[in-house]
This record gives sequence, C-alpha cells and structure tokens, in this order.
Amino acid sequence: MTSKKRIARGSIGTAVGVVALGAVATYDLVQKKKAVLRNYPVIGHARYLLNKIRPQIQQYFIERDWDGRPFSRTTRDVIYARSKGEKGEEAFGTLTNVSREGGEWLMHSMVPLEPPVEPPRVTVGGPDCTQPYDMAMLSVSAMSFGSLSGSAIRALNSGAAKGGFAHDTGEGGLTDYHRGGGGDLIWEIGTGYFGTRTAYGDFDPDQFAGKASDPQIKCVSLKLSQGAKPGLGGVLPGPKVTEEIAQIRGVPDAPSKSGRRS
Ligand SMILES: Cc1cc2nc3c(=O)[nH]c(=O)nc-3n(C[C@H](O)[C@H](O)[C@H](O)COP(=O)(O)O)c2cc1C
Repeated sequence: MTSKKRIARGSIGTAVGVVALGAVATYDLVQKKKAVLRNYPVIGHARYLLNKIRPQIQQYFIERDWDGRPFSRTTRDVIYARSKGEKGEEAFGTLTNVSREGGEWLMHSMVPLEPPVEPPRVTVGGPDCTQPYDMAMLSVSAMSFGSLSGSAIRALNSGAAKGGFAHDTGEGGLTDYHRGGGGDLIWEIGTGYFGTRTAYGDFDPDQFAGKASDPQIKCVSLKLSQGAKPGLGGVLPGPKVTEEIAQIRGVPDAPSKSGRRS
C-alpha cells in the first residue's frame, strides 16, 4: 500500500471517529433523561461504564480475602476447589485476627471431656413471667413442617426430648408431628401468622391463646422478618403446598399451578 493511500485511509478513519463522537455528543446534549450526559457529553459515559464494572473492580482488586457477604472469598475458594474435587482442606492456622476486640472462636479440647449431665441452660422469661423456662443453649433451630416432612419433624422432636433441649417449630405452624416426641417446643410465629390466623390472614388471638396454653410449648418466638428468603420469609412455592400444609397453616385452598402462596 502506498503512503498516500495509507494517509487517505487514516483520514477517513479519523473523520468517521469525529462524526461518531459528534453524533454521540449531539444526542447527549439533546436528551433529557441523564443530567450527567447533558452536562458532560461523551466523557459522561465513563461514569456509567465505571459504575457497570464497579462490582468486578471491587471483587478483583479491593475486596479482601475475608470480606464479602454472605461468603468471603476464602470460603468461596474452598467451595470451588471441593466442587472440582481439588484440595479443599486448609492447614492449621487462621488468617483472621481472632484476638481482635469482639473476636470469638471455639477451642478444641486436647483431651476428651465428660459430657455434661445437663446441657448448659439460660432462663427465658422476665420477672413478670409466671412460667419461666430454662432453655438449653443448644436447641433445634426453626424448620417448619412443610419445609421438612412429618417424619423429620417427629424425629427432631424425639431427639429434643431425649437430649433435654428445645425444638423450634419454624413459622409453618404447630402440628401433631411437633408434639409427637414429647420434646419441649418453641412455637415460632412469623409474618404469615401460620396456624394462628383468621380466614382473612390476620392474627387470630383466640387460636393463639388456645394453642399457646399447651404445656409442651415453653416459649413463643415472634419472627419479624428474614432476609434470605423470598418475600418476608415463610413462603413455599405454590406447587409444594399440599392440602395438609395448607390446612395446618390456615391458608386457603390449593394454589394455582404456577402461583406461590405463603
Ligand atoms: C429446611 C429449613 C427450614 C427453615 N425454616 C425456618 C423457619 O421456618 N423459620 C426460621 O426462623 N428459620 C428457618 N430456617 C433457618 C434455620 O432455623 C437456621 O436459622 C438456619 O438454617 C441457619 O442455621 P444453620 O447454619 O445451622 O443451618 C430454616 C432452615 C432450613 C434449612
């Protein structure tokens, strides 16, 4: 290619570039949706571009190994490695500053310990409480009937009875499965008032009083909200809600196939 031709091509390229930039600048100046572009035509686009790649910059360059929620990079790395069948174990030693103020850790005992005869307990119920409850500090956390089967719920409750600890019903209502093992119960009531709601979905104080007087129920736990679930928590996808679950929760008849209901 002769140098004249090369210069001509370069000029055409420059002209196309200038025209394109001119078009973008004109558009930015006349549009009325984005003040940044109106005030800073062309270069204002850099802001949107940087905003777009902000999460990547944060993740690749700024985030520290132990930052990041709900899982830190360190945890994610272990999960990735194990999912690929690669080495997923870390040698002794933590990179976390456990001695910082508020730092907590569990220390292994160097020799086996005798298990306590009674689990450590904490008293629930203030001075006005007529039936305070000495709750074991390790109990079965809230998992509803509906998210777990009746047999699983019964097994957990039997375990609670044997171990002398409490079993949280979860917010899906109180069932005979929960009562089946004779273990202490914490009745959880969530935003859906399952098992203690009127036909209109409001809290039903009479139903509540009737059920809460069951001596197996040692505490009532009021759940205000939960972040890591759709809606406000306690929502089962419609097709998973059987007649039995609907009846226990006190929600209307079978849902539409695609619908959700709580
Ligand atoms: C199957 C299942 C059902 C759950 N249902 C409830 C629930 O009804 N109410 C609630 O407060 N938490 C519920 N949770 C959350 C657990 O109570 C617990 O807080 C959570 O699983 C974190 O504890 P973990 O790390 O020991 O699993 C549920 C968890 C699971 C796995």
